[in-house]
Amino acid sequence: MSYDTPYHAPVLVEEAMELLRPERGGLFLDGTLGGGGHAEALLERGPEARLIGVDRDPDALAEAGARLERFGERARRVRANFADAVEAAGVEPGTLAGVLLDLGISSHQIDEDARGFTFRPGAPLDMRMGQGSAGEPSAADLLAEMDEEEMANVFYRYGEERKSRRLARVIAEMRQEAPVDTSDRLVEAMRRALGGRIEAADKARIFQALRIAVNEEIPALENALERFREALAPGGVFAVMSYHSLEDRLVKNAFRDWSQSCVCPPRVPRCTCRGVPLGETLTRKPVSASPEEIARNPRARSVRLRAWRRA
Ligand SMILES: C[S@@+](CC[C@H](N)C(=O)[O-])C[C@H]1O[C@@H](n2cnc3c(N)ncnc32)[C@H](O)[C@@H]1O
Repeated sequence: MSYDTPYHAPVLVEEAMELLRPERGGLFLDGTLGGGGHAEALLERGPEARLIGVDRDPDALAEAGARLERFGERARRVRANFADAVEAAGVEPGTLAGVLLDLGISSHQIDEDARGFTFRPGAPLDMRMGQGSAGEPSAADLLAEMDEEEMANVFYRYGEERKSRRLARVIAEMRQEAPVDTSDRLVEAMRRALGGRIEAADKARIFQALRIAVNEEIPALENALERFREALAPGGVFAVMSYHSLEDRLVKNAFRDWSQSCVCPPRVPRCTCRGVPLGETLTRKPVSASPEEIARNPRARSVRLRAWRRA
């Protein structure tokens, strides 16, 4: 069964469902509802399952709302950053049967030029998942406000750009003439700073780095991990799909730490946690997409799925 729609083609649906096992029933939280593909699969496969779908983006909530309408009260939607989702949705500690995070952005967000995520010519540099409702700065605002060092850090940390300082310097020079506020201006800065041919993959990497900064994606994930763990019921499963090595590392390390038998801080002289692990990692290695899925949906190329189960 395919859950692809023109809005978004969800990745690793079968693999995620095998780990989350919605047929157990209970309350699930999808922190990145998007077009609702994973949410629909979850509610179909778990007739006793209920779902809270969270997204920052009102477009996504509207799209998923129409798709999940047939499930009636089994599906609820909440507009929030997933970092605050437990509180925003009023979830009690120790109650969730599962949590799913499918990080990043949906195809729809990239496809809509006006949303400003794309490097296609003529697009504004916006990139705000929440569409600016909380007064958060757009990508163009960041490129106007950040000093050179901050810009270089964004391109280096999130985009692994070796010439990050040079790119930051060129942007700082260009913005003295006119704002760097469109896809064309940023690509022009890349051309001047990086030299040679700028491939689509380079544009994707630099634009993604800026998007990660605009939406404060790394802090959101850092803040969310323990909150979701505490919201899980015994036996509850936490599944995360990442598309960026920094995100995947955070998830991998958290799941590894939570699976260790002693979780006392290093300075504590004697173990007080009684050596009982908080849970177990269900994916010894991250699950990636098959060649067939990647051929059908190139977005699946970089996905890494990891899952952990609370004891
Ligand atoms: C890859 S898409 C999810 C697609 C979804 N699994 C589906 O089947 O259609 C990621 C979604 O998560 C949302 N998102 C990303 N980071 C978020 C955050 N920190 N809080 C809330 N929503 C977030 C984006 O707006 C986007 O709609």
